[in-house]
Amino acid sequence: MNEIINKERMPRHVAIIMDGNGRWAKQHGMARMFGHKSGVETVHTITEHATRLGIEYLTLYAFSTENWNRPKEEVDALMSLLVDTIGKETPTLMKNNVRLMTIGGLERLPEKTRLRMEQCVNETAGNTGLNLVLALSYSSRWELTRMTQILAERVKNGELRVQDITEETISDSLTTAGIPDPDLLIRTSGELRISNFLLWQLAYAELYFTPCLWPDFTVEEFDRAIIDYQHRERRFGKTSEQVTK
Ligand code: IPE
Ligand code: IPE
Ligand code: MG
Repeated sequence: MNEIINKERMPRHVAIIMDGNGRWAKQHGMARMFGHKSGVETVHTITEHATRLGIEYLTLYAFSTENWNRPKEEVDALMSLLVDTIGKETPTLMKNNVRLMTIGGLERLPEKTRLRMEQCVNETAGNTGLNLVLALSYSSRWELTRMTQILAERVKNGELRVQDITEETISDSLTTAGIPDPDLLIRTSGELRISNFLLWQLAYAELYFTPCLWPDFTVEEFDRAIIDYQHRERRFGKTSEQVTK
């Protein structure tokens, strides 16, 4: 690559829809789990790279609410892969000062997986480098439904007036409360869709799609997405003149 990343214009928060593990495995004549295992290695590489680049938040879509509808063998194998991975990766997260966070309906995870996740979240809670946010059993519609229930309950209990519901109240009642909105969304595997991911939070994100399958995704691919992002003009509804001054 001849162009380099401009450290002055880094996205604060990068979100990734890590897609294409199954197709990658198929290309290699292997079972789907082989693709998921290889995808874990990409997660390791990209997390270390994001740390080096000084990115503040990296959100990875690891398992969607809809993914529960996959064959039971695949779901079970993915849940054990999560347990193994978190166990193996915790020392690296500590070494790299990475704080693990999760978003999603964790109560749906098997107990062993949930406890392992919670243990790692607690262990890394004091780390001050990259915030690695894993979306597990997450979907936007699930999250927006839950937010509506939370706010309706508060109104019913007299804690909140309808006219006091603002964009901020809504953001604070999502599972991403406290996390800034993503600046850049990357989706691998060539699919041009959002698949129920962060619909509210992505309102002004820059979108980057690559045909590359997740296990093939590299630091160079990641840098290419960042450089592409750095060439975009983010206007947030204003005119070009207003934002360039
Ligand atoms: C993404 O890869 C990982 C998960 C959704 C868990 P896929 O498993 O969706 O791979 P493809 O899309 O079938 O290739
Ligand atoms: C999105 O990928 C979810 C994750 C990457 C975890 P999917 O493979 O589930 O999405 P669709 O089915 O292609 O929309
Ligand atoms: Mg997929």
